[in-house]
Amino acid sequence: MAVIMIDDVRLEVADNANVLECALNAGIYIPHLCHHPDLPENGSCRMCIVEVDGTDGVTPSCTLRAKDGMVIHTKTEQVNRLRTLALELLLAGHPEDCSTCPKYGNCEMQTLIQYIGANNARMRVRSKGIKMNEENPLLIHDMNRCVLCGRCVRACNDLRGAGVLQYQKKDMETYVGTGASGDDVRDAGNRSSVKAAVGILHERLLKDAGCRFCTACAEVCPTGSIRDKIQLLDTDRTKEDVVVPCRYACPAHTDIPRYIRFVKDGDYDAAAAVIREKAPFPHVLGLICTQACAKECKRNEVSEAMSIREIKRYAAEHDTGSYWKGKGKQLPDSGKNVCVVGGGPAGLTAAYYLRKQGHAVTVKEELPTVGGMMSYGIPSYRLPRSVVADEAKVIEEQGVVMETGIRIDRPTELLKEYDAVLMATGNHMGVRLPMEGKDLEGVHVNIDFLRKASLGQETGIGKHIIVLGGGNVAFDCARTAKRLGAEEIHLACLEARDVMTADDEEIEQAQEEGIFVHPALTFERITGTNHVTGVDFMNVKAFYFDENRRAVIEKEEGSEHHIEGDTVIFATGQWSELSPECGLQLGKANSIVVDLKTLAASVEGIFAAGDVIYGTKSVIQAIASGRDAAVQIDLYLGGDGDISEVLAPEQFKNPYIGKDEEFPFLPAVKKRVLGAAERQDNFKPFDFGICDSDICGESGRCLQCDLRLQIHPSRLWTEFSNEQKEVQA
Ligand code: FES
Repeated sequence: MAVIMIDDVRLEVADNANVLECALNAGIYIPHLCHHPDLPENGSCRMCIVEVDGTDGVTPSCTLRAKDGMVIHTKTEQVNRLRTLALELLLAGHPEDCSTCPKYGNCEMQTLIQYIGANNARMRVRSKGIKMNEENPLLIHDMNRCVLCGRCVRACNDLRGAGVLQYQKKDMETYVGTGASGDDVRDAGNRSSVKAAVGILHERLLKDAGCRFCTACAEVCPTGSIRDKIQLLDTDRTKEDVVVPCRYACPAHTDIPRYIRFVKDGDYDAAAAVIREKAPFPHVLGLICTQACAKECKRNEVSEAMSIREIKRYAAEHDTGSYWKGKGKQLPDSGKNVCVVGGGPAGLTAAYYLRKQGHAVTVKEELPTVGGMMSYGIPSYRLPRSVVADEAKVIEEQGVVMETGIRIDRPTELLKEYDAVLMATGNHMGVRLPMEGKDLEGVHVNIDFLRKASLGQETGIGKHIIVLGGGNVAFDCARTAKRLGAEEIHLACLEARDVMTADDEEIEQAQEEGIFVHPALTFERITGTNHVTGVDFMNVKAFYFDENRRAVIEKEEGSEHHIEGDTVIFATGQWSELSPECGLQLGKANSIVVDLKTLAASVEGIFAAGDVIYGTKSVIQAIASGRDAAVQIDLYLGGDGDISEVLAPEQFKNPYIGKDEEFPFLPAVKKRVLGAAERQDNFKPFDFGICDSDICGESGRCLQCDLRLQIHPSRLWTEFSNEQKEVQA
């Protein structure tokens, strides 16, 4: 222990402690720039200089160690003069006009200038003349703004161990970069003239230098010289959400980097527990999730997005349940009871969390088993029914009562028996577009067709099928028809191929199975007198929405053509089956109108969640909506609305990720998928995911964007109070 005085404030600090940190922790601001709490000191900027009684001159406080009896002055005339001079020298090599900098308003350097009151008027300003490099993914290097504080170099080398950024020299100018490649240097040595040699000595791209794209360099950079391509601040998202976009994009906000790291470490139980903290259907999601997360995965900018769904699947399939089975939250019985109408993903999720909050919960489902679209919409070759049943059983084992084969037409009646009702009835009514021939014999709708196929009932389709629609449900219809023995299948949609809403994988696999996909067509009419004979189409030149959100379709003149078929399946959307007699206010497509914040329907005590409030989306969206409903109903019943639970163990996130020159180039590993000939005539699963030998490699491709959140923010003078009291550091 040492007692030191800083500007007449007495501090008790650890012997040998960093004096700058002691001051900052005690609320005494000393300007600093090259210092960062997570990085080793280099004492280069001299912003933090102080005077110490008994020693000559000034000394940087960031490299000064506390000794008992030390008396330190941070604002003497000499300190202020030399600090201002040091800053002016730094500014001489920095562009003058802050207002043109993308970091304007969020720049550490700028706040320092304001605090010290320096400007570069006394100096001869020079431009470094180094071209801004925008060729790298995720990051921009603008070395003209660099003040050589070295934070990025230390972050890359000391904090991460990646060793990509180093000090480089060009035309007597020092800058931070990756340097030229070894081959270039050797090649330059063989050139006949210096000019020719320098000409080929150019900076390697970050990727070629083995960058891990952790973006720690951008996090610690106090100016705009290394910065993110995306805007981190002043957006609708928090900085955390921008830095880790996969977690934000997941509707349930599953902690994706955390479970990927557990999978990489071989702890599949812990990974599954992380997923279960947000969703009671890890295995279902591992098979069919639409992966909004992967679409935002930053790995995509570097090589290919992470196979997030497949990693989730691997965790779920190797989970023994050691962290969650029989564990997790279960509050004592509240004495309240809730009826959930509809046993799909939204209803079952809400039921699960409401039960955990202590309420008695009964699910009433119209069909013979629970699962909703997971059991009667998505074909079993994509989602085996046993997977749905196993995960629904966990919910039942939590104490949720499941009643099947019960249709509820008047939910308001349920309030006589239950304290709250949740309507999670989904959208189970297929829609026929208002067009000629829509009611002919041989015209079917998506949901009825898929449900009949799921139940093993006769579907009534013929041999030549035309599916109208371009989403995943349309492909489910087409591929189910194929498996039921249809000989020729055409799928047509309004959208161009690159904006079709179905997953690329679905489209490609369907084509491999011989299904003809026709993007950018209008459906003119279904032909036939009594029975369907085909569909007339026209080509779409352009399809867009005008300023009033009205669809505008420009057809190609003279492009009329006909495709013959004996069956048409509409896969152009689904509505809720509810009618006004249900007693609730209904909106577009028979959806239940709710207060978007509380999910309360028009009758007190009744709430709604899932597709029935927002239209057909995804299983993960329904799960997220079910969680929201559980929160709101729990609050309504007098609970605290806190359904969060911690199931997975603490995780050590090693910031020292090291060097790996192959890392940036690693492509996504391939899954094991049966060929079209083996899969197209049966409903057996054909996609076996990532194999044991590849799973560690695939999870190791993660950029670990969340590591950046471990880096402490810099402390700016604006955070410090003028009143500096005697405190213990
Ligand atoms: Fe201490 Fe730069 S020398 S912060």
